[in-house]
Amino acid sequence: MDIENKVAVITGGASGLGEATARRYAGAGAKVAIFDLNQEAGQALADELGDAALFCAVDVVDEASAAQGIEKTLAAFGQIHICNNFAGISPGCKTVGKDHVPHPLDKFRQTIDINLIGTFNVLRLCASQMSKQDPVTESGTRGVIINTGSIAGYEGQIGQAAYAASKGAIIGMTLCLARDLAQYGIRVNTIVPGLIHTPLFDSFPDPVVESLEASVLYPKRLGKPAEIAHLSQYIVENDYTNGECIRMDGGLRMQPR
Ligand SMILES: NC(=O)c1ccc[n+]([C@@H]2O[C@H](COP(=O)([O-])OP(=O)(O)OC[C@H]3O[C@@H](n4cnc5c(N)ncnc54)[C@H](O)[C@@H]3O)[C@@H](O)[C@H]2O)c1
Repeated sequence: MDIENKVAVITGGASGLGEATARRYAGAGAKVAIFDLNQEAGQALADELGDAALFCAVDVVDEASAAQGIEKTLAAFGQIHICNNFAGISPGCKTVGKDHVPHPLDKFRQTIDINLIGTFNVLRLCASQMSKQDPVTESGTRGVIINTGSIAGYEGQIGQAAYAASKGAIIGMTLCLARDLAQYGIRVNTIVPGLIHTPLFDSFPDPVVESLEASVLYPKRLGKPAEIAHLSQYIVENDYTNGECIRMDGGLRMQPR
């Protein structure tokens, strides 16, 4: 599917991987609707990208909020062809912590809510809209959904039970979603990033970043958000990429800690 003149919903589009993807898509001639809780950063990015972008204050967990974002996107751009789910959180907490304190259940639930249910909430609404639209390719493609997993979904580290569960579930539902939506010409794939240099890493001391970089097979550095955006555009444009989870991690295999 040619990305030019297509409309993309990008959750978590105000920061990190989502921001890089919004910039790349807009640069390639697409329209982008930035769905994010962070109004200040999301609006500033939309203002910078001009007519190509729209900011929608959306909490991905909330049904009504996501539906309003979809309505706003359709009012501005008319259709939806691409749905990228990046909104997510990555808290750390051991199953049993100091002084035998069990993992707070609300913290586990919140991670599943935002990362997994938030992803499903937005993609189901986008898929419903795509299914009503005319195909945009000769082979009948109506849209492309791209979710964001994590290598923690395969190799969760100590303290990542909630995060690993949420990302493992995103990986696990990928083929099922692709099967559900094939009849409408909607492809579904999951990007599985390793360690990518988003604002999260800015707060880490240099020695910690250096040791993380040393753990990558090759190249020995953190990934760049632009590299994830590049992969995302590739998935949009390559019509034979479907039902797949694609690692982008420099060959890194995470150790327990
Ligand atoms: N950066 C990495 O190394 C890395 C690695 C593997 C996976 N990931 C995944 O990639 C995604 C993006 O990560 P990032 O590093 O760019 O993070 P980030 O913190 O820079 O961006 C996440 C964005 O999601 C938004 N958000 C959070 N909760 C939301 C909600 N309920 N509704 C709407 N928006 C919400 C935040 O406001 C923020 O703008 C996440 O799902 C993360 O788990 C990142």
